[in-house]
Amino acid sequence: MPANSLNTLANQQARQADFATLFQQATVVPNALLQRYNLTGPRYTSYPTAPIWNEAFSAPQLATILGQSKTQDANTQPYSVYVHLPFCENRCLFCGCNVVITQQKQHAEKYLIYLEKELALMAEKLDLSRPVTQFHYGGGTPTYLTPEQLDQITTLFFNTFNLALDAEIAVEVDPRVTTVEHLQTLAKLGFNRISLGVQDFNPQTQEAINRIQPFEQTQALVEQARSLGFKGVNIDLIYGLPFQTPETFKHTIEQVLQLKPDRLALYNYAYIPWMAPWQKQMPESALPSGEMKYAIFCQSTQQFLQAGYQYIGMDHFALPADELSVAWETETLNRNFMGYTTRSGQAELVGFGISAISSWNGHYSQNLKKLPAYYEALDAEMLPTWRGYELSVDDLIRQTVIQSLMCQNTVSYAGIAQALQENAKFRLLQSDETLASFDFTRYFADELKALAPLAEDGLLTFTSEGFELTPLGRIFSRNVAMVFDAHLAKPSADVSPDVPASPQFSRTL
Ligand SMILES: C[S@@+](CC[C@H](N)C(=O)[O-])C[C@H]1O[C@@H](n2cnc3c(N)ncnc32)[C@H](O)[C@@H]1O
Ligand code: SF4
Repeated sequence: MPANSLNTLANQQARQADFATLFQQATVVPNALLQRYNLTGPRYTSYPTAPIWNEAFSAPQLATILGQSKTQDANTQPYSVYVHLPFCENRCLFCGCNVVITQQKQHAEKYLIYLEKELALMAEKLDLSRPVTQFHYGGGTPTYLTPEQLDQITTLFFNTFNLALDAEIAVEVDPRVTTVEHLQTLAKLGFNRISLGVQDFNPQTQEAINRIQPFEQTQALVEQARSLGFKGVNIDLIYGLPFQTPETFKHTIEQVLQLKPDRLALYNYAYIPWMAPWQKQMPESALPSGEMKYAIFCQSTQQFLQAGYQYIGMDHFALPADELSVAWETETLNRNFMGYTTRSGQAELVGFGISAISSWNGHYSQNLKKLPAYYEALDAEMLPTWRGYELSVDDLIRQTVIQSLMCQNTVSYAGIAQALQENAKFRLLQSDETLASFDFTRYFADELKALAPLAEDGLLTFTSEGFELTPLGRIFSRNVAMVFDAHLAKPSADVSPDVPASPQFSRTL
């Protein structure tokens, strides 16, 4: 259930129209304002964000939590399963994902044996009768595996879990290495969503990022996927890469629009050379400036809106009939490590493979990031946990507000209080006084004061029941969410380079 009930469907549709109007204007944002809000900040695929999770949270603790979750009668949450398949043949120089670059396919053979071990260990601890409503292969490049390997590992997962009949079953693919045989195997297994990495079709940019990917190759793959029955096609693009200008990227978007993807991710290039040193191999002087990046974002957004796409939030767009648009309109959208999702709201996220993240009722945990450590833990029959976090009541409150801001773009004081009471029941925290009698304006008196300048800058408006982001505020949603982040000032030295969506931290624009 959404955390607030301020908006009706009509209201949400009106807000999409307002957003489109903003982007029809020639100068969308004054430069001074742009500079004020172009800060580094989290992308809020979790709250608290990964850099503050700690290694004191270990495998035995995770096993205990899983045991409690399994035996808790009230807990009938479905599972959302994520499997990390990290291999790629060559490195794209911009890449910030946790990948293993190798052309020696026997490495993948070994990895699959260990994934099977992890699955067996987890299967003992999970309630396997619960439905899996979302299954996702991410990477790396899942289609680095042969069709036979994909068939074998997927069958193992599907035979272990209770896959819901209408489950969303998604895979990330690199069109340069994905064959018709891969697609046929995935379609036969039941995959219904496919996400293609594109980034940019401009030859000069492709050369600079070490990723030569002709338009025709991508087009052929999209057509094959559709003819094989994939219902949803997503395309990933990045703005901020070398040699990009609004003009060059305009042409890329025109080509992308010919493919009519159902969803589009337009990622802001996370330039994090201290974690991804290979990024330094690209000429720094060729990177577009902050202002240029924003111009590219505006130009692309205009093109998407004109082509009939809806703005979902941050970096996501979708056609009106796509589930993501429907979820935005009906305020059932969620956000997790996979970005904006429609199915994860009530689900526990179970991650497998190196660096995979799980999200249990009130806890986060993340697997070890490197293959040797991951293998060693599993050889010792241990869960390969690297670090984790147990949410405090304050974290839970702030998480609810930030989720509402990032997904619904509104905060209703009464809606947050109601969501917290429901959550308290679920987490057996009914006796917690703060949650039972939650008073938003009292609890967040300082934050509400801190929002005033953002309201003056036109990012949000206050209503009698709460506040909501303006069209401009939707672009700067991270900046507004940062006001409610109690951990922002004190990140640990431990950084999180592995999840592409959450380097520490990319710029908000
Ligand atoms: C796992 S890859 C997609 C599948 C496949 N490996 C491919 O590249 O086609 C996930 C996506 O993360 C995004 N990504 C990777 N590194 C990034 C970075 N440094 N900044 C922004 N986005 C990034 C890219 O858009 C990429 O398509
Ligand atoms: S962008 Fe995709 S193909 Fe390129 S290195 Fe990263 S994960 Fe591999």
